[in-house]
Amino acid sequence: MHKIDIFDTTLRDGEQSAGINLNTAEKIEIARQLERFGATIIESGFPAASPGDFDAVQRIAGMVKNSIVTGLARSVKGDIDRAWEALKGAEQPHVHIFLATSPIHMEHKLMQTPDQVVENAIESVKYARKFFPLVQWSAEDASRSEPEFLVHIIQKVIEAGATTINIPDTVGYATPHEYGALFKYIKENVRGIEKVKLSAHCHNDLGMATANTLAAIENGATQIEGTINGIGERAGNVALEEIAVALHIRKQVYGVETDINLGEIKRTSQLVSQLTGSLIQPNKAVVGKNAFAHESGIHQDGMLKNPLTYEIITPELIGDASTELVLGKHSGKHAFKDRAIKMGFDLSDEKLKKAFVEFKKLADRKKQIVEDDLFVLLTDQQIQD
Ligand code: KIV
Ligand code: ZN
Repeated sequence: MHKIDIFDTTLRDGEQSAGINLNTAEKIEIARQLERFGATIIESGFPAASPGDFDAVQRIAGMVKNSIVTGLARSVKGDIDRAWEALKGAEQPHVHIFLATSPIHMEHKLMQTPDQVVENAIESVKYARKFFPLVQWSAEDASRSEPEFLVHIIQKVIEAGATTINIPDTVGYATPHEYGALFKYIKENVRGIEKVKLSAHCHNDLGMATANTLAAIENGATQIEGTINGIGERAGNVALEEIAVALHIRKQVYGVETDINLGEIKRTSQLVSQLTGSLIQPNKAVVGKNAFAHESGIHQDGMLKNPLTYEIITPELIGDASTELVLGKHSGKHAFKDRAIKMGFDLSDEKLKKAFVEFKKLADRKKQIVEDDLFVLLTDQQIQD
């Protein structure tokens, strides 16, 4: 079993979500929780972006001891200088430099030739290494870059001193097969790639970020990047809680481990949602409100007989309260009786039958049955008589 590093970018790429803006105090609170969560690296912001972000990165760098703290920089000296100012107080100063490598970005955004981009990348990595012991270099839009060009530029930045190479699927365009194949190709063609960390960074535009990240791990990624609850630009980044749980539950398939403290997942997810104001969709994998809720009678009956019938992850694993058997129109008598007993009602079979008939009528009228509804129903004179 080898270790995969978890690079959390909730405070940088996650904060790039439309409508999210965290102040320094909020960033610090999240960074402390990410440390408890077990993130190997916390990307705490983009120091050159604003004085507020600089302040947050500097304070987090001075405070967090169990995770490496990093900050983002464009491939320009001014950004790297600003990052050093903010991060020099960290235990292990780390900077994350990015530069686009796809034809569309080089020509229309950077307005540089491929040769100029290579020169620019070499220069910025060499410059950063004068200060930082750890330099991550990202090939922005890597999944839409020419693989041969990618191999060439990666080779050059490793020679210039990069300690981590990141291969982002910036616009969430790759399929799992393509993204995995790209990692394989890089591993097979870049000399010295085994001496640096190789990182995956997936966006979720086509809903494939989790599958793509797992494909990268299968093909040699040693670090993966993502955010809590999958927040991020457009459709977001890969949700780290999904990866952590998938690697744990399917250990035999992936054969890797992480330092993530799975019991901190729910707390971390709730904190990020509260402070960012970004709501979690009810059916979100792992952390959604319904992730452990079972409504249908067949499922509830199975769960009461043996939870393994329908539950591959226990709520306890992620630090959540217990499984919920939601009572609704699809629920069966078994779950209904179980809930009545838990609420303190010990009904005869006949009363239970009557109450169940009334419950089904109510469930047809109401979207969701709450405990108060059940209480009124179970104390109804007609049922009690
Ligand atoms: O998605 C992306 O390409 C990024 C880079 C800054 C690494 O977030
Ligand atoms: Zn990104």
